[in-house]
Amino acid sequence: MEILCVHSARWWQAQKVLIGREGRPLVIIDNFHPLPTVCVDDADRRSFRPVARHYPGIRAPVPKPYFAPVRRGLSDILIHHFDYRGGVSVQECFYSLLTTPPAQLNYIQRLPHVDGGDDRKVAILHYLCYEHHGGTAFFRQRRTGFETVPNDRFAAYKQGVEADHDSLGAPTPQYYTRNDRRFDRIRTVKARYNRAILYFGSNLHTILPGTEDSFSDDPRIGRLTVNTFVHPAHAGQKPPGAASRD
Ligand SMILES: [Fe+2]
Repeated sequence: MEILCVHSARWWQAQKVLIGREGRPLVIIDNFHPLPTVCVDDADRRSFRPVARHYPGIRAPVPKPYFAPVRRGLSDILIHHFDYRGGVSVQECFYSLLTTPPAQLNYIQRLPHVDGGDDRKVAILHYLCYEHHGGTAFFRQRRTGFETVPNDRFAAYKQGVEADHDSLGAPTPQYYTRNDRRFDRIRTVKARYNRAILYFGSNLHTILPGTEDSFSDDPRIGRLTVNTFVHPAHAGQKPPGAASRD
């Protein structure tokens, strides 16, 4: 474990670990945002809606000022630990509430997933909920040994999922929280109020729900997070906080 000192947000308590055998970085930042209660109040005023079939819950847009106090520190972390030397571009940012109970998960939601096959994309997951809401777990597919699934591995990964289906049947309708014959759990991060984690979105991972409250659609009770996806900036793209999102 490496304790980070290269960042500009001086209230942060940040550490870096390497995930599994592939050793891709996972940065954990406590005391991430100076105004977490303002974030929760803002989420409480928003209209949440279901989104794509991959996320088992509802989402709402996050306003641009969210990034202002953490922008410089995030840029430092991304440059030094994710090799974002050309700058940072925000692709998506939204509040998320987990609302789907295990029995209602679709097939794809019962397995670990990646946040797309773009190998440079980084996920920033900010917990605005407490430890009893579980956390996040990272996995290795047993058949392939893959801990990450960028685009060039997708076909082999999919073959592995299909072979598992043929030999083991459909995964049971529950969140994938364990080691079994399909995947090994290789790293776990607990939710903590105002903790953020950064990882490459191509790492296989899952949501770990906690108690029954974890499926509440009330931002003050449920498993509220801010989910941001960033990408290295190219010429003409905008830095964090300048994304066209209200
Ligand atoms: Fe994800």
